[in-house]
Amino acid sequence: MVSRIISVDTFDFVAFGGTGDLVRRKLLPALYHRDRDKQIEGPTRIIGTARATMTDAEYRAFARDAIEAHVPEKEREPETVEAFLRRLHYVRIDALGDAGWAELGRLLGEVEDRIRVYYLAVGPDLFGTICAKLGEYGLVNEQARVVVEKPVGKDLESANRVNDAVGAVFEERRIFRIDHYLGKETVQNLMALRFANALFEPIWNSAHIDHVQITVAESLGVEGRAGYYDTAGALRDMVQNHILQLLCLVAMEPPAALDADSVRDEKLKVLKALLPITEANASTFTVRGQYDAGASASGPVPSYLEELEKPGSPTETFVALKAELCNWRWAGTPFYLRTGKRLAQRCSEIVVSFRAIPHSIFDGSAGRIVRNELVIRLQPNEGVRLHLMIKDPGPGGMRLRRVPLDMSFAEAFGVRNPDAYERLVMDVVRGNQTLFMRRDEVEAAWRWIDPILDAWKSGGEQPKSYRSGTWGPSAAIALIERDGRTWHEDGA
Ligand code: BG6
Repeated sequence: MVSRIISVDTFDFVAFGGTGDLVRRKLLPALYHRDRDKQIEGPTRIIGTARATMTDAEYRAFARDAIEAHVPEKEREPETVEAFLRRLHYVRIDALGDAGWAELGRLLGEVEDRIRVYYLAVGPDLFGTICAKLGEYGLVNEQARVVVEKPVGKDLESANRVNDAVGAVFEERRIFRIDHYLGKETVQNLMALRFANALFEPIWNSAHIDHVQITVAESLGVEGRAGYYDTAGALRDMVQNHILQLLCLVAMEPPAALDADSVRDEKLKVLKALLPITEANASTFTVRGQYDAGASASGPVPSYLEELEKPGSPTETFVALKAELCNWRWAGTPFYLRTGKRLAQRCSEIVVSFRAIPHSIFDGSAGRIVRNELVIRLQPNEGVRLHLMIKDPGPGGMRLRRVPLDMSFAEAFGVRNPDAYERLVMDVVRGNQTLFMRRDEVEAAWRWIDPILDAWKSGGEQPKSYRSGTWGPSAAIALIERDGRTWHEDGA
């Protein structure tokens, strides 16, 4: 099947942090793929900027290396790669000083009215400074827009500072706060599933749904990012953004339309309906953990503290939460959230567990009737499975069996699943903010997260340790089992 590609207008893409990990692993491969599929046309340019001194040729060599490392060989035709590399330029810029800005201005000024995407792949402490310089040097034309990576701040107060600084130069409609989870194929499909089918909506509420689980499990540790990670932790790194955004998409009311504000208005209402978790209830509703040494698929692995080389760090690498929504649709249906590093396997999924049947007409010999479940699998093996009870085929009387109605998208449609960044970067060029966070959403998320952080801090406890390669501390299992439920097992 051929997917439909709608080409975008010619643009200039300026990557701050142009030699960093995100540009190398995600942005250059994403832009390459869009170029290869002819979605990028005309004389579009990609301009890397960073503090290092580099020529255009050296930057192209860096990009070639990135593509070789992160694009499968069968998708790297030599002439396509060369044509892509010709789009690249490099300007040395000191974000804190004045070096390079005028040169960037000259390069961009060659085509004054072209769309300009400023992608800030740097820490949030530089967002304001870079935006101020863009303003000062007159680089914000009518078509300019800025993309900021998460985390936007580390609490509500710092997020406000960052948002004020960016907002002083760019109007809200030109600010794209990226959360790459919103660009994932299956997350998009969640919207289709809920709002393009009549089947689910009537039962999408607490009368029919017992509970929801959202798991984002990673098997890797903090890798080379321990410095950043130790100042963040799992709650800020994953829950404040990715997991709360997923929760919003599951729980929101049907928006009137798919435009950015209609969708974001509904997500905001969900965030505002979250029951606050404070010192009084944090020990009931939250569990935090930190990985100890253990085993991964590739052999023994050290503990978080050994990797960090910092004894006694209280940063959590795992968190499990029970979230409750105080509104008519969801009162009585808890949302169990968990995420962590160095867990048993990489697996991200949303499990919607329906209520049990009210009465069984089958006798004991039929077997146990298991609740229906809708499993929306983000990665790996993207797809949706609806678990139903059926009669075991063939003779042998009425025996019941649980089977999944399975949809593995890549297989079913025979298309390559684009990386989230491919979709999101093209949305920025098109000026479509639907999949980006509005300022008030980021604030509402911090308003829920901050009291949890405060409660942990004042409790003064260390996170519970868990062995690498397991599913986190046993307290996380107790968190859900106390309510007579269990975490969904992978593949179940
Ligand atoms: C990032 C986090 O936003 O998401 C990382 O900062 C995490 O810590 C990553 O590893 C997970 O993304 P994905 O797409 O690999 O699930």
